[in-house]
Amino acid sequence: MTSATRENRGQHASSSTDLKSVYIETFGCQMNKSDSEHMLGLLDEIGYKQTANLKGADLMILNTCAIREGAEDKVYSYLGAWRKVKEQNPSALIAVGGCVAQDAGEKLIKRAPYVDVVFGTHNLHRLPELVLQARETNQPVVETFQELPEDLPELPVVRQNDFSAWVSVIYGCDYNCTYCIVPYVRGRERSRDPKDIVREIRELADSGYKEVTLLGQNVTAYGHDLSPSMHLGTLIEMVGEIEQIKRIRFITGHPRDLKPEIIDSVARTPSACEYFHIPIQAGDDRTLRRMARGYLVDFYRKVVEQIRERIPDAAITSDLIVGFPGETQEEFLNTVRLVEEICFDACNTAAYSPRPHTPSASWPDQVPEDEKYERLRLLNTVVGEVSHRRNKRYLGKTVEVLVEGTSQRNAERLSGRTRTNKLVHFEGPASLTGELVNVSIDSANPWALRGQMQ
Ligand code: SAH
Ligand code: SF4
Ligand code: F3S
Repeated sequence: MTSATRENRGQHASSSTDLKSVYIETFGCQMNKSDSEHMLGLLDEIGYKQTANLKGADLMILNTCAIREGAEDKVYSYLGAWRKVKEQNPSALIAVGGCVAQDAGEKLIKRAPYVDVVFGTHNLHRLPELVLQARETNQPVVETFQELPEDLPELPVVRQNDFSAWVSVIYGCDYNCTYCIVPYVRGRERSRDPKDIVREIRELADSGYKEVTLLGQNVTAYGHDLSPSMHLGTLIEMVGEIEQIKRIRFITGHPRDLKPEIIDSVARTPSACEYFHIPIQAGDDRTLRRMARGYLVDFYRKVVEQIRERIPDAAITSDLIVGFPGETQEEFLNTVRLVEEICFDACNTAAYSPRPHTPSASWPDQVPEDEKYERLRLLNTVVGEVSHRRNKRYLGKTVEVLVEGTSQRNAERLSGRTRTNKLVHFEGPASLTGELVNVSIDSANPWALRGQMQ
């Protein structure tokens, strides 16, 4: 973990004399992981240093995800456990941020009265003030904003990795998929100024970072709201000029916004990885229409064609939902067939979960739970077979791997990722963490590759 970049802006300096510790637990997507790094950066300015020890922490933060009911339930079960930790250490504070907090606000305190701070996804920059206020008043503090502030604040950051960095480039989502809570908890799309992004990535390059992942709930929409407007491809090419950055990734893409010019930019930019995460969600037109995805299966096929024409070895991955309300067995099987047809490198799969605020949650034709899980099992089997087939293409090839670290059980077993985001295991010294090495692949399973370092 590295220390906070950007200097302490001074306004909290008087209260930063006594050092305190903060423990943070993060659920959900990469945006949330990135937000947690900014929370740590903000808290660093008032003297909170990160600890891995929950029980001794002065401040415990839960950065929550609301995407499915299960994720939300996990929040309350963690809070139940943290309540007990707080009973042993009554001066410790509990803060809850992220998407559940944004949605629940005051209601979260009603359900968990021992929580001290509730803050949302649009007011991260206010976290230090809110924590200080809770400390001083001994009263719960709840603050959520409807939208991001007019001028997007540049937030300090304590990164959890010193060779690969998350960089948020666009916040929010303007789609309204009928199953999804994200627009309600993350607001409308707001792109960051490309100059700020490039400056941030130059600083990262100067501090030795090799990989950046440009983040957005809908990253492929980047730039449409800027004046003058621009597209993600131009940003990728700008970042591509920063020599020390060897790998540029971007997630999550929306098929409708992955325009040919973005694919062209990826193809033209040597450091842009040959990896496209473009969730289709379902392989059936009637379901896609009712999901309000804004494209049909044939459109998606064309996007895949455009990628494979320009970048034949690109990895393409997707998210899939099964058991969307009204989905028939035949429609579900269309999704299974599409997985076979496209031959995805990997897919995140999930059983549909009804979410608050979303239209489909109140539709009458909900698919029974056991049926959803039956479909999920079948889909996962096919996804595994197809991923295995894709992974076998690597046998006998030598690939460039960015080493992520050692296995917990064996310090000599390294793992890392290819440019196409395949997980690779191989033997080597821990000192190679953060380095690019070449590995020749000699075995493949559905989830990972194995090989020998060259
Ligand atoms: N913006 C991305 C997805 C972000 S949400 C896109 O449009 O593709 C991450 C994933 O969570 C989605 O791709 C979807 O597969 C899943 N998801 C969202 N809402 C869900 C729900 N109500 N039930 C089950 N899975 C859901
Ligand atoms: Fe949710 Fe749809 Fe937006 Fe993705 S595009 S975040 S699935 S509303
Ligand atoms: Fe979850 Fe919020 Fe991300 S709902 S998936 S943490 S945007």
